[in-house]
Amino acid sequence: MVKKNLLSIYDLSKKEIKALLNKAAELKGKRKPLSVFKGKTLGLLLEKPSTRTMVSFAVAMAQLGGTPIFLNTEKMQRSRGESIRDTAMVLSRYLDGLMIRAFKHSNLEEFAKYSTIPVINGLTDDEHPCQILADIMTIMEFHRIKIIESLKNVKIVYTGDSNNVANSLLAISAILGLNLTVISPREYLTKKEVLNKALKYASSTNAKINVTSDISAAKDADVIYTDVWTSMGFESEQERRKNLFAPYQVNSKLLKKASSRCIVLHCLPSVRGEEITTDIMDKYENSIFTEAENRLYVQKAVLLHLLK
Ligand code: CP
Ligand code: NVA
Repeated sequence: MVKKNLLSIYDLSKKEIKALLNKAAELKGKRKPLSVFKGKTLGLLLEKPSTRTMVSFAVAMAQLGGTPIFLNTEKMQRSRGESIRDTAMVLSRYLDGLMIRAFKHSNLEEFAKYSTIPVINGLTDDEHPCQILADIMTIMEFHRIKIIESLKNVKIVYTGDSNNVANSLLAISAILGLNLTVISPREYLTKKEVLNKALKYASSTNAKINVTSDISAAKDADVIYTDVWTSMGFESEQERRKNLFAPYQVNSKLLKKASSRCIVLHCLPSVRGEEITTDIMDKYENSIFTEAENRLYVQKAVLLHLLK
């Protein structure tokens, strides 16, 4: 059997995304631990900090009967130059699955190439697929949508940096045929190759994709989503970013343009006062923290899909 990875949302078909979301929703209703992964181990290899991704994967694995193993790159021989190839080949002989949070997406792909066990993207500079599955689950929950086909009636607006999270949102919207507007300053718009790939999918799924620098495109949004202006690894650009992104903040003025049923999402961690104001974070904390909670059910569904 060919092993499956989840490196990008594009690794999943519409049918698989539907199945994962259905499974996640089903698992949310059942808190009882399962024992399907008894005796199995999941490595959590982290090159960058993490709270939600690390803990939700660890808890998911434990509640499915398996054992999570925390791997800190700095404490491993990787930090002294051991190659990705050798590390992947060795880890494959101990573990049953490997979740990786990496800087370079190409490093994740190299790990996957030499691993004989499933590799899961727990965020790279380019993508954050597990996050975006939980976000779609949350949108369906808050807008009371039972079938994925009805999601196209929800106007999703992402404002801020066209980063890893925005790229995965774009990808899932293209695959599922959603209505997505990404609003970023001209200097930080979605990269051409990322957009072109999404548009190629959109042409067959009828997804409505709009990438713009015009914040008024947030009008009538049913979902407003944002993320930090400075992602991990881009700290040297922080000051420049603060100025450029200021008009793209999620605040009460922006929410006035949105539909009356609009919810706010943030993958977290947030920087209150930068990409989102404190009053809006507080007002919409139910959708934002449910979004974080849903990571757990999605991770379980992902693990069952790849490791079972
Ligand atoms: N949203 C998210 O991935 O959070 P962490 O960085 O805490 O894992
Ligand atoms: N875009 C953010 C997401 C953190 C979960 C980052 O990469 O730092």
